[in-house]
Amino acid sequence: MARIAVVTGGSRGIGEAISLALQKAGATVVANYAGNDEKARAFTERTGIAARKWDVGDHQACIDNCAAIAAEFGPIDIVVNNAGITRDGTLARMSYDDWHDVMRVNLGGCFNMAKACFPGMVERGWGRIVNIGSINGQAGQYGQVNYAAAKSGIHGFTKALAQEGAKKGVTVNAIAPGYIDTDMVAAVPAPVLEKIVAKIPVGRLGQAEEIARGVAFLCSENAGFVTGSTMSINGGQHMY
Ligand code: CAA
Repeated sequence: MARIAVVTGGSRGIGEAISLALQKAGATVVANYAGNDEKARAFTERTGIAARKWDVGDHQACIDNCAAIAAEFGPIDIVVNNAGITRDGTLARMSYDDWHDVMRVNLGGCFNMAKACFPGMVERGWGRIVNIGSINGQAGQYGQVNYAAAKSGIHGFTKALAQEGAKKGVTVNAIAPGYIDTDMVAAVPAPVLEKIVAKIPVGRLGQAEEIARGVAFLCSENAGFVTGSTMSINGGQHMY
């Protein structure tokens, strides 16, 4: 029987590549999105993957939508917490809302989705949760105290929840992407981005599919002994 997978922010960027990789691996995928209905409809037409709109920062919306997905498609076996936003700026210019929005969506979304799906995975004795962190959560980044804190929090969250799932067949892992060729990275001012790319040993931005292949592995049957780990996919930009 096909596994049921939910990918948050799963209709574009890295999320779209993850949705497609899991579909290719045989899962029935539902992509969550928060923005443009037209684009989500086009995504479903293009891929055959269902899209469902809600804000992952809204706790009750996660509970309700995951229950509705389970009722429609079957119990959720795989969750990829990919949805993320940036509100970059130096601390002096960062508002409380910039801080709070990023924490609410990027880190709060992981908690909300785990609350909705982890208990069922434990009960059924199988589950996969993959949280998308960031190189900037590992190394920090000028102008990103909010994003770096949230992504760093994801790495701690992953290691803690992995311990709760380990004996129950539920693995919890993180991937820390470097700079990937997406709209989010394209929004970085060109001169700043040029300096960043110059520091990537592989000499280029990553492709979304290069992250998606890592996610597909961590979600596979074969990855049952991998838990609490962080897979860095960053072209060698940060090694530790
Ligand atoms: N280290 C030290 N100093 C830096 C710096 C750095 N990395 N970057 C900028 N500065 C300095 C500048 O040299 C400049 O100094 P002077 O005033 O002395 O000349 C000062 O800081 C101001 O720089 P900016 O003109 O860039 O400042 P700004 O206020 O216009 O913009 C910013 C600040 C919005 C943070 C901008 O620098 C920026 O967008 N930086 C990129 C942040 C980034 O990498 N975001 C990643 C988004 S993608 C993502 O997050 C995905 C992922 O997971 C990887």
